[in-house]
Amino acid sequence: MSSIVVVGSVNDDIVASVSRLPAPGETVTGAELGRFPGGKGANQALAAQRLGADVSLIACVGDDAAADEALALLRRGGVDLSKCRRIEGATTGTALIAVAPSGENHIIVAPGANRMLTPDDVEAIHADALICQLEVPVPVVVEAARAFRGFFCVNLAPAAEIDVEVLQRADLVVVNETESNWYGGSLKACTGLVATTHGAGIATLARDGQLIAEAKPPSVQAVDTTGAGDTFTAALAVSLVEGQEPEQALRYACAAGAVATMKMGAQPSLPDRDSVLKWL
Ligand code: RIB
Repeated sequence: MSSIVVVGSVNDDIVASVSRLPAPGETVTGAELGRFPGGKGANQALAAQRLGADVSLIACVGDDAAADEALALLRRGGVDLSKCRRIEGATTGTALIAVAPSGENHIIVAPGANRMLTPDDVEAIHADALICQLEVPVPVVVEAARAFRGFFCVNLAPAAEIDVEVLQRADLVVVNETESNWYGGSLKACTGLVATTHGAGIATLARDGQLIAEAKPPSVQAVDTTGAGDTFTAALAVSLVEGQEPEQALRYACAAGAVATMKMGAQPSLPDRDSVLKWL
C-alpha cells in the first residue's frame, strides 16, 4: 500500500441545488439546500484513501462546530488527521456552491482557517507521494515542493500565480481546461507529466508538450460534478505511484472522476477502487 500525504484545504460545503445557475446580478430561487464535507485537500485525501492508499492530511480548521462536520468523513474513512491543526478563534473554510441539474457548478470559497497553514507545517514529510493544491497559501506549496523527496503532484486549482520551481519540481501537474488556459505558456516550465481534464470530454497526459496518453471518461448520469477533479487527481497520483503505465493510470483516473459525479456532495460521492474498476 502506498503512503500519501496531502497538504491542503478543508471546507464546509454549503450546496444549493438550483434549476439553473444564476447570471451575474440575477436571483434564482427554489433551491434545495445541502451541506457536505469538502475542500480540495480533504477531498483528495479521502479519495486517495478510498482508492487504496494510506493517507495523512496536513491542514488547518477552525475551532467551530463546522470543523467536526468537515472532518467527519475523513475520520470515518481512516485518513490520519494527527497533522490537522485546530486554530483558536478561526472559522473553518466554507464553500458556497450552486449546482445545476446538469451537475455543473459555481463555487465561491471563504478560506478561513485554510489561510493559517504555514511553511513550518510541511517541513518534514516522509511518504511515497505528496499531493498539493492551491487553496492554501502558495508559500506552503513552495516549501512542500522544496522539502519533499518523493513523487510530488500539484493540482493547480484554483488557478493562482505559482513559483516556477514548483512546476519544475512536480512529477505530476493536474489542471482542468479553464486552468490550462489561465496558465497558458507558463505550463511549458513543467518537466514532469501534465494532465489536463475537459469535464466529460477527453483528458490528456503530456510530457514536454508531447501527448503521451489520452482517455475519455465513461458516460455516466452526472448529478454533481463537485469533487470530480479532486478524485481524478487522487486516482492518477495513486495509480502512477503504484507503478501503473501512464495510459492505464489516465483511464483509471477518468473513470474515478466520472463516478464521483453520480451523487450529490463532494465527499459522499468519492468512489472506492472496486466501483471504479466496474467502469473500465
Ligand atoms: O474541488 C471541489 C471543492 O472545491 C469543494 O469541495 C469546495 O470545498 C471547493 O474547495
